[in-house]
Amino acid sequence: MTIELIDDEPPAVPHRRLEPGKLVIASHNEGKVREIGALLAPYGIETVSAASLGIPEPEETGTSFAANAELKARFSADLSGLVALADDSGLCVDALNGDPGVYTANWAETPTGRDWGLAMQKVEDALQAKGPEAGRDAHFVCVLSLCWPDGHVESFEGRVEGSLTWPPRGTIGFGYDPVFVPYGYDKSFAELDPAVKHSISHRADAFRKLAGAVLPAAE
Ligand code: IMP
Repeated sequence: MTIELIDDEPPAVPHRRLEPGKLVIASHNEGKVREIGALLAPYGIETVSAASLGIPEPEETGTSFAANAELKARFSADLSGLVALADDSGLCVDALNGDPGVYTANWAETPTGRDWGLAMQKVEDALQAKGPEAGRDAHFVCVLSLCWPDGHVESFEGRVEGSLTWPPRGTIGFGYDPVFVPYGYDKSFAELDPAVKHSISHRADAFRKLAGAVLPAAE
């Protein structure tokens, strides 16, 4: 297994370049598939979704974002014989030792589906339980993992730092957007122009790192 996590340091081993061609996006989320497909199209990369190939979603048994992104990418690469790209993301609150972290989506689970209002309330309750001195700093993390059919993996982590606001503000976006105010802004992710969010988000940061490391020059 080869994992390259990059930040600003040059990698010890050169990154494997992603050649133009077909790539599976290991996600059943149509929005994610469209968004990632649009980002890769200028590089001559044609994307297909795992769902369209009949590939199911594996259980996310990892205890880190990278482990979950990697297992999803590996699962689709193994079953399709194509390079696969997966992402895993979540919210980490400093005063909660990084929770909800890889369990970010689980905090929203109810017997009748996901409830993001409830999830945000749980985070706020956990913070309140820490007492008035608890800081409200938090960050979103996104790891993008590429897996080749021969098992080679490259992973890239993106982050956006901010603080949690209460009560939730704004109606744009999804998940925990209404309680997250990125540093340098006075609006929550759910109040900001989506173009602004998409330029500063954890996903944008991870994608910039991936593009710089493995993509050919845009056509
Ligand atoms: P997953 O990566 O699809 O498993 O998503 C993890 C969870 O993190 C999502 O269901 C969202 O609740 C949360 N999340 C990830 N990115 C964002 C974001 O940009 N805004 C708000 N919530 C997010």
